[in-house]
Amino acid sequence: MSKKPLILGIESSCDETAASIITENEQGNPLVLSNIVSSQVEVHKEFGGVVPELAARSHVEKIDWIVQKAIDKSGKNIEEIDAVASTAGPGLIVCLSVGLSFGKAFAASLNKPFIAVNHLEGHALSPGLENKIEFPYLLLLISGGHTQYLIVRNVNNYEQLGTTIDDALGEAFDKTAKMLDLGYPGGPKIEAIAKQGDNDAFNFPRPMTNKKNLDFSFSGLKTAVFYEYKKLNNVSHVQKSNIAASFQAAVADTLLHKTKNALKQTGLNELVIGGGVASNKYIRDRLISELKDYKIFFPPIERCTDNGAMIAYAGSLYLKGSKEGLNFNIKPRWPLSELANG
Ligand code: KG4
Ligand code: ZN
Repeated sequence: MSKKPLILGIESSCDETAASIITENEQGNPLVLSNIVSSQVEVHKEFGGVVPELAARSHVEKIDWIVQKAIDKSGKNIEEIDAVASTAGPGLIVCLSVGLSFGKAFAASLNKPFIAVNHLEGHALSPGLENKIEFPYLLLLISGGHTQYLIVRNVNNYEQLGTTIDDALGEAFDKTAKMLDLGYPGGPKIEAIAKQGDNDAFNFPRPMTNKKNLDFSFSGLKTAVFYEYKKLNNVSHVQKSNIAASFQAAVADTLLHKTKNALKQTGLNELVIGGGVASNKYIRDRLISELKDYKIFFPPIERCTDNGAMIAYAGSLYLKGSKEGLNFNIKPRWPLSELANG
């Protein structure tokens, strides 16, 4: 039996320092041997958002032991690693440079190939770690920096159908949570408090649902929350829960409406949903229960937010198509539709 490839994936584009080792099982399906994520929530929470210089410093402090931990947990030796993949963009330049430089140096020291991975492609492909998904499929990417519909035609082949014209969805969750004084990062805080709230307490807008196009806009929804919040005096926990629940319901309705349009317009019947906001259980459940005629794939909850396994997996697919290079430079802006065949 030939040796199964062992890929190290490194992620440092924003506020998670992450590394993972993946391989293949006997049947040739991907297998995650380790997936270590160190979040910087504690570093940034007093500022209510990511501070790039602090994030970069924290990546520098942690990256070697995170990678070491991923290797230890995988039960493999450094010498067995066949290739190294790091996120090269999009993201914060000072953060990207940490994982990219580390990955390149690591690969060079082992004399093994290095693969520069697009972070969004990591999210786009990662449900393939546990599912066989046929190309082409529709991707709804909902993260802290991006909100997009894309047709994933193949690895390295994307067509963007729509995007947000203002805030990304994760950003809207974070800003709304900040407004309600719930802390950082906002998405999980809103989801938690919304469990005790009434979805219909406030009738927030479902933005852009009167338009056929596949673009989003979330800043108006955020502003609507702001005005309702300002009207209240001595806001109680119940009122905050109601605002959070009504906000979350407006988001889910909007995503559902737009996604139905996207599926109809493209004629596709497979849908992949990825990015940090896809870890929201309420949104997952609404999409699954109301899009029953389609095959829907989500990554496991803990792998919706940034992680090394998705980077290792995208890297492993490129390794088969051999796109690699130590001279690849950081791309802080790198839309998926810019990839070679897009
Ligand atoms: O994909 P990700 O980890 O980083 C980017 O590539 O942006 O996404 C982070 C975003 C943050 O805005 C965070 O608030 C949001 O995902 N998020 C959530 C939840 N968990 C994380 N939003 C809603 N509900 C959640 N449970
Ligand atoms: Zn991400």
